[in-house]
Parts: sequence; C-alpha cells; structure tokens
Amino acid sequence: MVDLSIDFAGLRLKNPIVAASGPIASTPATIRRCIEHGAGAVTVKSVGLDKENQLLPRPGNWFLDKLGERGGLMHCFSGLLTPEQAAECLSVSRPLADREDARLIGSLYFMGPWTGMPPFPPVSPPAPETLRRMALQMEAAGADAIEVCCNCGLSMKPSASVDFVERSIPVAIEALKGRLKVPFWIKLGFNHDVFWLRDLRTMQKLGMPAVHVYSDLRATFLDIETARPPMALPFGYGHWLRGPANYATYLSAVNSKLQIMSSGGIWTWKDAVERMMCGATLAALESPVQYHGYRVFGDILKGLAGFMERKGYKRASDMVGLAAPHIYNVKEFLARYDQTTGPREAVRLALDEVQCTGCGRCVSCIYEAIVMASGLPSIDNEACERCGVCVTICPADALAIEAS
Ligand SMILES: Cc1cc2nc3c(=O)[nH]c(=O)nc-3n(C[C@H](O)[C@H](O)[C@H](O)COP(=O)(O)O)c2cc1C
Ligand code: SF4
Ligand code: SF4
Repeated sequence: MVDLSIDFAGLRLKNPIVAASGPIASTPATIRRCIEHGAGAVTVKSVGLDKENQLLPRPGNWFLDKLGERGGLMHCFSGLLTPEQAAECLSVSRPLADREDARLIGSLYFMGPWTGMPPFPPVSPPAPETLRRMALQMEAAGADAIEVCCNCGLSMKPSASVDFVERSIPVAIEALKGRLKVPFWIKLGFNHDVFWLRDLRTMQKLGMPAVHVYSDLRATFLDIETARPPMALPFGYGHWLRGPANYATYLSAVNSKLQIMSSGGIWTWKDAVERMMCGATLAALESPVQYHGYRVFGDILKGLAGFMERKGYKRASDMVGLAAPHIYNVKEFLARYDQTTGPREAVRLALDEVQCTGCGRCVSCIYEAIVMASGLPSIDNEACERCGVCVTICPADALAIEAS
C-alpha cells in the first residue's frame, strides 16, 4: 500500500492533487464534485478585492480544439467572487470536506485595473486592511488555508506588472502575517522571467513556507480564417504549458527553500508525477477538469498510486524533487555528449524486424537512409548519419543505434 498523503505549509493533505482556483470550484456544487472525485484540497474561486473585478462568472473559456491546439485554452478569467459568495462556498462545503478529509483553500486575487482603456493609471498595491478583512472572513467561514494570487492583470505592460507584483508581495505578506490561525501563501505567475525568482526570495526572507507557482506566460493562437485570436489578450493555457511549467517549478525548487504547489499543463497522472519530480509538493489543475470533467481527479489518483506501487515509492514525498539535480546539469550533459559524439563508423543503425510494424514513420529520415521495401524499412548505413531521430520516433521501438 502506498501513502499518498503529504504535508504542505503545515497542512496535511490526503493526497497531492489539488483543484486550482477557477470555475471548477466556484460554487458549493462544483466544490462538492472536486471533493467527491478525490481532490486532496480544493481552492475556491478567488475573491476579487475591488468591486470592478467581482463580476459574475460568465462563460469566458475558448478551448482551441477547432484551431488545431487540442486541449489548449484561452480564457478571460470568468469573473471573481464576492467575499460573501466565497464565504458561502466555504461554509457549505466544510462538513463534506471534513467527512472526506479534504482541505479547503480560500483564495484572494489582487491585480491591476481590468476594465477601461489604455493608458491604464499606475496601480497601487492592495490595501492591507482589505486583504486582512477578506482573509479573516474566509478563515471564519472554514478555510484551512488562504492563497493570495498576485497578478498584474493583462492590462499592464510586462515592465509595469513586474513592478506591481514586486511591490505587492511584501504588502500582502505583512498584511496577513501573524493575523491568521491558518497558513497562507502567495500564488505567483512565472511570466516575468528572472523577476519572479527575486519574488520567491522576498517571500522566503519574509518567512513564507510555500508558494503556488503557475503560469501567466503570454501566448496566443489565431483563427487564420478571421486573422484574429479567439480572445484579444494573450492569455493561453493548456497541456502545451507542461514543459515551461516543469522548468519554472524546477527553477523555483532550486532557487528557494519554499514548498511548491504547481499548476499549468498537468493533464494526466504522468504529468503530476513529472511535476513532483521537478520539485512540486502539490500538483494543481484547473482547465483539464473543464475539458475532461471531474473524473480527471480519480484518473490521476489511480495512476499515481499505481505508479508508486510499481516503482516502490512508499510515500508521495519520495518523488518530490527527484529529477531536479539532473535538469540543468552540465556535467551530465557533457558526459552524454562525449558518449554520443564518436566516429560515425563506431555505431550503426539496426532494425528489429520482429518488433517493426511497417508503419513507415522512419522514412522521414532527412538523409534518405531509409526506404520501405516489401513492407519493411530498408536501411542504408552508408547514408545514415546516426543522428538517432528515427530511433526516437519509431512507435514500436524497432530501431536502435548499436556498436558496429
Ligand atoms: C477559466 C479560468 C479561471 C481561473 N480563475 C482563477 C482565479 O480566480 N484565481 C486564481 O488564482 N487562478 C485562476 N485560474 C488559474 C488556475 O487556478 C490555474 O493556476 C491555471 O489555470 C493553470 O492550471 P491548468 O493548466 O490546470 O489550467 C483560472 C484559470 C482558468 C482556466
Ligand atoms: S539515425 Fe538519423 S540518419 Fe540514420 S536513418 Fe535514422 S534518421 Fe536517418
Ligand atoms: S518507424 Fe519503426 S515500426 Fe515504423 S517502419 Fe520504421 S522501424 Fe518499423
């Protein structure tokens, strides 16, 4: 039996899979579904600090399947809750969360101006009293922890948003430090390149235990028929975020001592394992639940437990950060480089005819070293440069580079 439970910021979670804040946890009914499908913790849809950002949730999600990016998403944040709506979500969900041993995370979202036209006025950090009042209200309503999402809003230029985020983080921490009985942490986007690493150090210096690293990486996709993006702000999500979010998680893990929750592009149990191996203690997801439905929590948990069983990981924490020492490792890179750069004649391409299904994918070889003959690839080792591409794309593992 594997133990999926894990500690994060002083909380014990029954498993490391978390519902991230968004429409999937924006009403008592949706939160109930997250809990019933096994999420270790549920982050309630954020409360907006300003009236202008407390819009009613409206459809605002465009999955990009029809634009060729299956499961990609552009969205316009779909409104934020009022403090009263969030308090109701928390208090109604509390008994079920207790029965199912799930944690409830209240969420505050502060950002620059969302509405209106450029040029936007300079934005001040949030008023500490407002932050404190709202956090205390969520704590009283039953939150086990508070997450404060610090985001510039896409209405700002990157340079202005870096400044806004940097100024706001200490304000938020000072506003809540020592004032809550429950733990709190900041949710920080990794859009701003090296700047967010500086923000992590600030958090650590100010005594924070953890951070939620997510993506506010700007990205766009176009409908070429209309020459327009589905949404006129470059706010892209989806499975394709997996690589950048893995790397951001790794960078956060090696550059700080903060425990990390990470979201962005975690669609399967393999993605969750991968994110944890990059350094995340918790793997959080939002848009895959909108795409596949709440069953995705159960699928991920089942896959995670099966993997741990197969690999002999007894506790979920055994996987956290396992890969980090190998991700940006020049020594290992050079060792591999030495291994793979030898005289061309020392190795040759070999085909396992039993494994080969005759699919023909390997004929893409740019050196024309493979042609199909009677349903099987025929290899010309004179033309073959031993680049290894065909070995990596063969779906049947029928090709290998071997010693000559
Ligand atoms: C429609 C939508 C609304 C969201 N609303 C919020 C929010 O109110 N507060 C917040 O902190 N994050 C919000 N997020 C961000 C998610 O919590 C999550 O960090 C992000 O979507 C990356 O995870 P994913 O790739 O699993 O979607 C929202 C995401 C989506 C797609
Ligand atoms: S190893 Fe590279 S060069 Fe050789 S057959 Fe495969 S793809 Fe072509
Ligand atoms: S890609 Fe692999 S399975 Fe397909 S024809 Fe080539 S060797 Fe055979």
